[in-house]
Amino acid sequence: MSDRLLAVLSDELRPLAAQRLAAAEPVLRRLLAGLYGERADFDAWLGELMESLGALYAARPAELRALDAQRVAQPDWFLNQRMLGYCAYVQNFGGDLNGVAARIPYLRELDISYLHLLPFLRPRAGENDGGFAVSSFDEVDPALGSNADLDALTTQLRAAGISLCSDFILNHVADDHAWARAAKAGDAGARAMFHVFSDRDMPDRYERTLGQVFPQVAPGNFSFIEALDGWAWTTFYPYQWDLNYANPAVFASMAAALLRLANRGIEVFRLDSTAFLWKREGTNSMNQPEAHQLLQALRAIVDIVAPGVLLKAEAIVPTRELPAYLGSAEAPECHIAYHSSLMAAGWVALAEQDTGVLREVIRNTPALPAAATWLSYVRCHDDIGWNVLRAEASADGSGGSGNAGDGGAVRLARVARFFSGAEGSYAIGAAFQSTDPNAAHGSNGMAASLAGLQAARTDEERALALRRMLLLHGLALSFGALPVLYMGDELAMENDYSYQDRPQHAMDSRWLQRPVFDQQRWKHRYDVSTVPGTMHQALAKLVRIRSRHDALAANAPRALLADAPDGMLALARGDRFLTLMNFSGQPQSYALQGEWRDCVAEQATGGTLVLEPYATHWLERE
Ligand code: GLC
Repeated sequence: MSDRLLAVLSDELRPLAAQRLAAAEPVLRRLLAGLYGERADFDAWLGELMESLGALYAARPAELRALDAQRVAQPDWFLNQRMLGYCAYVQNFGGDLNGVAARIPYLRELDISYLHLLPFLRPRAGENDGGFAVSSFDEVDPALGSNADLDALTTQLRAAGISLCSDFILNHVADDHAWARAAKAGDAGARAMFHVFSDRDMPDRYERTLGQVFPQVAPGNFSFIEALDGWAWTTFYPYQWDLNYANPAVFASMAAALLRLANRGIEVFRLDSTAFLWKREGTNSMNQPEAHQLLQALRAIVDIVAPGVLLKAEAIVPTRELPAYLGSAEAPECHIAYHSSLMAAGWVALAEQDTGVLREVIRNTPALPAAATWLSYVRCHDDIGWNVLRAEASADGSGGSGNAGDGGAVRLARVARFFSGAEGSYAIGAAFQSTDPNAAHGSNGMAASLAGLQAARTDEERALALRRMLLLHGLALSFGALPVLYMGDELAMENDYSYQDRPQHAMDSRWLQRPVFDQQRWKHRYDVSTVPGTMHQALAKLVRIRSRHDALAANAPRALLADAPDGMLALARGDRFLTLMNFSGQPQSYALQGEWRDCVAEQATGGTLVLEPYATHWLERE
């Protein structure tokens, strides 16, 4: 079958392709045979797939092929401590793709080397879940620019040393995607791209064990679609139809769509909602073995055609389910995976002024295969989902607040209430998708508002809020991961309430954290007499310090130190770097062994260090 791929290549391209095929093809064949091998037409299908991969290989621009070669020679290129991400909506950050290009100098100033632009491909007409309902993978959203603008942007970003990351929404398509339209028009082949049931029998059976992503605004996992005269599987909103990966045509088409985008210069794909790719009755249809096989097969394909490209898993699942998304040395899967447990646990530690859950998460975080890493972050465009922490919240060993009986739910519900501003909290946020006060789902809000800035009335309260912001950013930057900043957090931007006036968004409080970039705050970024300036400069300083210490690289060793008090987190990065973080409103003492230099305060330190409330110390051994 490899002949079919090689046959379409020029003599010049063939030798390298043959070499890559030899390495990846056996794995690919095994995976695909496992998924689709029972089908009578398997060999023919595989041959066609290989031929289409050959065409995409041939179409890969020379400049990108050169980048591939460079990265193959140095597969850990994205693990160094200078790698730093930034995530933004195109429309909010720059207005359109050209406006984003105009912000490249600002990104460089922040030392950004990776830019995740939230969905910018043609979305569904009308409401589209912030672009997460895609109607064409081959067209830029006309409201944001043209395909030529995208090509120009990737070229400019590449020249500036910034890798562009794009969402690749592979679990579902919009109900006006060509396949959905054809299915509605009665095309049986198109209908088979989806999970469609003519009556409620199977949906009801599946529902017995399925969870719900949007229980309030989109309850249930199936939607009756009149034109189909049937029930379509719709994990998210009813207009997002889940794709049926048991159908090999879906896999082949989606792999090709990804590679076409890669050939436009997108270097990283955020594989959206990867946990949901495979459905199985009697389970929650998340994290199924076949979902991993699909991702591994996609990885093998990328390794053949575009090996400079990185795959990033968005799987918001419990900590124990996360490592599988990075695969193993024998079967690599994604290169990067969101560590949503670490992110959420940082917020829990703030709410509880106790690092029990956070420590448990870190203890549950295994070492990773080479050339793979976590993505660390403080906020993103979605809610902070609390349920990924159920296990840790009931088993952190703190005794006091964890309750094994409810699986941590009551405790996490308390945290969610804290971030919606209840119980004398400094936070101003919103509970997401939960009406039951004893069950947590998620919390929304910009980091600054959740950290107390919006509610702060005095300089002291503002200073504490900024420290909390820096504490969480410090954790993300020093944990040993690829950290990604969320647009606006570097300027301490607060909640945006304008969504409440937009009927199509009013019921989805995730829009609280999707503001338009604040030009005024940006102008003040160097002025430390202002809040945005203080935040920006303090964060920029952490970024600079990080970039100087290879102990802070993603793959450098990390150890949780047990001798810190409950309100603190102490992480050693090798034996020469130490990060100390106080998550409580009380001073905390920590006895240092030996002589250290505080890189942030720029002074020597040693003996017993007293950490002020919410203080962050980064120490290097003298
Ligand atoms: C991911 C996105 C989220 C979206 C969902 C459905 O979780 O981050 O914003 O609603 O997928 O595509």
